[in-house]
Amino acid sequence: METKKITLTINDIETTIVKGTTLLSAINKLNIDIPTLCHHKDLTPSGNCRLCVCEIENNGKKELVTSCNYPIMNSIKVETENEKIKKHRQNLALMYLGRYPNVPIIQEIARRCEAFDSDLYKSELSETSAKACILCGRCIRACEEFIQEKIISFAGRGINRHLTMPFSEVDPHCVGCTSCAYVCPTGAIQIVDQMNNPANPELIRNHGMKVNAEMANLDPYQCRMREVGTANIVEVMDKYDLLPVHNYKFGQHVDTPKIDSKVMKKHYFTQGHPDQCWHGCSMACAKAVDGFKLKTGPYKGHKVCVDGPEYETAGGCSNMGCFDIEFVIEFNFYCDTYGIDTISMGTTMAFVMEAFEAGVITTKDTGGIKLNFGACHEVLECLHQLSKGEGFGVEVGQGVKFLKEKWSKQKPQFKSFLYDIGMEAKGLEYSQYMCKESLAQQAGYTLALKGPQHDEAWLIFMDMVNNQIPSFEDKAEALYYFPLFRTWFGLQGLCKIVWNDVSPADNKKHPPQQAAKIPEHVDNYWKFFEGMTGIKLDEEKMLNQSARVHNLQKIIGLMLGRNKLIDDIPPYRAVGPVTKEEYESRKERYDKELKEKIGIEPTSLSIEEKMSKVREYRMNQYHKVMQAAFKRRGWDQYGIPTVERLKQLGIDRPFFIKIVEKARHEAVESN
Ligand code: SF4
Ligand code: SF4
Ligand code: FES
Repeated sequence: METKKITLTINDIETTIVKGTTLLSAINKLNIDIPTLCHHKDLTPSGNCRLCVCEIENNGKKELVTSCNYPIMNSIKVETENEKIKKHRQNLALMYLGRYPNVPIIQEIARRCEAFDSDLYKSELSETSAKACILCGRCIRACEEFIQEKIISFAGRGINRHLTMPFSEVDPHCVGCTSCAYVCPTGAIQIVDQMNNPANPELIRNHGMKVNAEMANLDPYQCRMREVGTANIVEVMDKYDLLPVHNYKFGQHVDTPKIDSKVMKKHYFTQGHPDQCWHGCSMACAKAVDGFKLKTGPYKGHKVCVDGPEYETAGGCSNMGCFDIEFVIEFNFYCDTYGIDTISMGTTMAFVMEAFEAGVITTKDTGGIKLNFGACHEVLECLHQLSKGEGFGVEVGQGVKFLKEKWSKQKPQFKSFLYDIGMEAKGLEYSQYMCKESLAQQAGYTLALKGPQHDEAWLIFMDMVNNQIPSFEDKAEALYYFPLFRTWFGLQGLCKIVWNDVSPADNKKHPPQQAAKIPEHVDNYWKFFEGMTGIKLDEEKMLNQSARVHNLQKIIGLMLGRNKLIDDIPPYRAVGPVTKEEYESRKERYDKELKEKIGIEPTSLSIEEKMSKVREYRMNQYHKVMQAAFKRRGWDQYGIPTVERLKQLGIDRPFFIKIVEKARHEAVESN
């Protein structure tokens, strides 16, 4: 973005702005008020009504320009009021008044422009409605910019110009988002639907519009989700050394640019049309590749539409060392087609590849398939086998937990290595964020009741990218609040993307821990809840609602013999370097940790000794943060809810108490 500064004068006042700023913004910055009509703060200016004209002097040449869409590119002199401007605005106001005499905003503008003769332009075209459409075009832009639709437009010319849907019929593609009505200055568009009988539809609409406007205006400068979807995260993760590479050994790779969002956008993504999880979402972060010709499998030679790739599909591929974008797309297509999760498949294959390279398994185990990192074709072969229930694919399909247990029994000399590198917890494969440098994320993943899946991955941004939870206490608090908030808005059917992938422009005004919560967006979600149910929420009420569900999930897990303390301990690969090459790849960081945090001079130690000290320290840190999180949740040291906590939440049923007490008894016995 252009950031060059320009100094100009407005009504003889000197002011400095960023090059490209619109003249209207510069005028408003000086608190000078001029009339506008077609302009709306959340929409791209169109210069349609011409009421905002001002006179500029540019290199000695004077002219009238519409200030709302005039970008300031050099030092100019501006007048916002003079006789010429006054006359121009007055004439326009008179014409508007003649045609729309009873529309309040027109009456107001006419007063401001001293246009009093409402009969001057009166004609048979005059519309007497106080809610007449004044053809400002805001609604058309809102539909295009917020919803990325073109449901409404102008038709006809001159005096016949009017607003319409295609063929003057109600367009079934209209999602009823009400963006058009929200920006309309006259009330010409009326919303009539009350489909689910919400308690307060106005509240929902107002906050929904806030969300729409933010997505349209801020996303292009923040995450570019509307442009490239979650694929934008590929380059961010690589930059911060967090992209999983070679079964989470490393966090960066020289070939990442071959599979990042730039290459996806330039060569593959089908752009320019709405592509959403649900019709009407103004973020539309889902992306697709059209007409992709498959090279393998049952549909070889077919041209297909591929839904994706999203970040974690690309992350799964970097984890396997596969940096071929056409492979990423083909892998994406076949995983989707076979009903296989790209994350679990990526993590499982990465584990298999590391085991293969370490000699734990050979081609004898894989049916002749050479599974080194980067073996794209071979990964697809396993995937096709898996779908048919044949060969080594059958083994792969059972996931990391199954494979590490099986191979450990067959080759006990590799057991500790396999348990260190097998990236699963509670039977679920880790999703595609390399968490070993983020204590908060290690616990966020591993303590999740459902396992380390991608819903739980945002702590890594707060911890490593935005540095919003620096202290141990901040992390423990984050591990209490965020999983509960995530559970809560998931239960309401709300999406993570519009909560924290785009944040308000002034979010940094909050202290870091508050900023991490994105308070305005949390408030939006509470207002949606209130608008629907009529129940006002605050943080305590919201967290209690969620904690009831969370504790109930925990109790059900305990009842099934799961969710024990052992299940909350991550494989060491999630916490620190398992191999020498991993240590060497971040030697500076680990040596610094030894020196500054552990208090040991690294130069006197062998690499094995250094790795052992780092491991001891990091596992100790993990246990501390885990215990702090348990305490904050009202659980005991075994991660089991206390009876007191169940009472507080009003779920102290005898049946539940019996389950937690039995689990506690067993935990005491076995620990
Ligand atoms: S309700 Fe939404 S989708 Fe329908 S016309 Fe208005 S802005 Fe477009
Ligand atoms: S319906 Fe409202 S927003 Fe749309 S053109 Fe007419 S006055 Fe403007
Ligand atoms: S407000 Fe600038 S042209 Fe309408």
